[in-house]
Order: sequence, then structure tokens, then C-alpha cells
Amino acid sequence: MADGSDRARVIDGKAFAARLRERVTGAVHDLRAAGVTPGLAVILVGEDPASQVYVRSKHRQCLEAGMESFEHRLPADTSEADLLALIRRLNGDEAVHGILVQLPLPRHLDSDLVINSIDPRKDVDGFHISNVGLLGTGQKAMIPCTPLGCLLLLRDLHRDLSGMEAVVIGRSNIVGKPMAQLLLRENCTVTIAHSRTRDLPAVTRRADIVVAAVGRPEMVRGDWIRPGATVIDVGINRLPGEGKERLVGDVHYDSAAAVAGAITPVPGGVGPMTIACLLANTVVACARLHNLPEPEGLTA
Ligand code: GUN
Repeated sequence: MADGSDRARVIDGKAFAARLRERVTGAVHDLRAAGVTPGLAVILVGEDPASQVYVRSKHRQCLEAGMESFEHRLPADTSEADLLALIRRLNGDEAVHGILVQLPLPRHLDSDLVINSIDPRKDVDGFHISNVGLLGTGQKAMIPCTPLGCLLLLRDLHRDLSGMEAVVIGRSNIVGKPMAQLLLRENCTVTIAHSRTRDLPAVTRRADIVVAAVGRPEMVRGDWIRPGATVIDVGINRLPGEGKERLVGDVHYDSAAAVAGAITPVPGGVGPMTIACLLANTVVACARLHNLPEPEGLTA
């Protein structure tokens, strides 16, 4: 659209994530030369299949970047006391600079309590209340990985987001709320829309930037999009297809791509950015914990 063609520019998150991982690898090299190897500890409780895929991928990408990866797989019936004891141990472990507890946790565990027991300096998910508060007040925080990935893509595309109308669809603590805070920090005019929003298509049509993070397959249609708008699709939904399952976002890609100026595909858009940002956050946490210069270009 923006270039006069009748299809949106496709935002290549896979290529951007690969470039970010190269910068991470360079920063890891520098930290190792200074005597520290960034280390990420991932805790997985239970056997959720999607979580297992993510955790494997995190482990592999850590090693590829020259980092240490510590996996802690605990049975689904792990007690809260045992999980908190493990986190306490990792908080005090000098080889560990990032701690991630894979969500969702089994229902008998209190996610808020567990997350808030992580040392905020090692909270590479940015979910600890301290980091939420720091981000919300414009202070230096650990920024949640998926919104950070979205912002890096948006900044690459627009350079200056100031004054733009942004509509974030979804109000989760993991994506919607931190995304809105980040866009506000960039001086966007931000609307958080959700399942109870009246006339969601009309609200969405106001946006120069749409971030869809609702977890509803192909909910956002082309006629909800203002011509030329940038569409960031955070959704990863598995739909049964002919023979094998199909991966779709929260945006109906074909209709939206006919109207938007730029759009992230699913797969290959926001998805690959999340783990790249996790690695970046771990490297930043490592530098901060050791009072070393913060590597450039890894966070926002
Ligand atoms: N489950 C789905 N997304 C995330 C995430 O970003 N971090 C963690 N810890 N768990 C998740």
C-alpha cells in the first residue's frame, strides 16, 4: 500500500530476529572476554506440549549465542514450596543472570507469588511487579519479550512513533498492557481495546498502528484496518487444516494485507522476535548485574 502497490509490505520478523541474535552473540563475546558468560535458567513445571517446544527452542538458541542455558523440568505436582526454593537458589546463583518460569503454571501454583519471588534484576520476562512498575513510570526496567519484539519491529519501520494512533487489542499482563506502556513511552496515543470494547471494528479503524494480541484466530478483518496502517499480529493459533494443522494469527491475513501499509505474517513475524528478545534481555541483565557497560541496540 505505502509504495503504491496493492499489498502491504511484509514485515520480516524472522530476518530481524536473526540480526538481533547476531548482536546478542557479539555482546556475549564481549562479556565472555570480560570474564562473565551470560546464563539463562528456564523452569518448566509439567508437560504442556507447547511450553516444551518453546523451552527446547530457548535452550538451543542460548547455546548458539554462546550463552549458558540451565533447564529445570519439574513434575506437574511440584509443591509451591519446592518451586520457591529453586527460585531462591537461582536468585543467589552467580552463573544465572536470567530466570524464566514458563507460563502457564499448573493451577495449584500461584503464578503471581512465584513470579514476584524472582530477583527483579534477573526477571528477563519483565513480569515482576517491580519491573511492571518501573516500565509504567518510564524508568529503566526489564521489558517483556513479546512487546519488546513488537516495538523493535515498529521502530525499524517508522523510526519515530510520536503522535501516532495505536490500538492494542488485548489486555493481558504478558502482551497487551506492557505493549500499551511501551507505545505510550514512544508518545503514541494509545487505546487498549478488549472483549468488552464497544464497536471494536470502528475503534481499530482509527489506528495508525494495530497490535492484535487476543488469542482469537483471524478475528481482525481487513475492513477493520485503516488504509496504510501498520498491523502487528501477536497471535499464534493452531487450526485444524487439511492433513496437518494450520498456524494463523489474530488477524485475517489476506484481507488485512490488502488494506494495510505493513503487516507481520504468522508464522515469521512477531514469533521469532520473542526468543531473540529473551536472549537480549539476559545479556542486558548480565551486564547490569556485573556493572559492565550495557551492550547497545539490544533493548528499547
Ligand atoms: N508463556 C507464553 N508466553 C510466555 C512468556 O513470554 N514468558 C513465559 N515465562 N511464559 C510464557
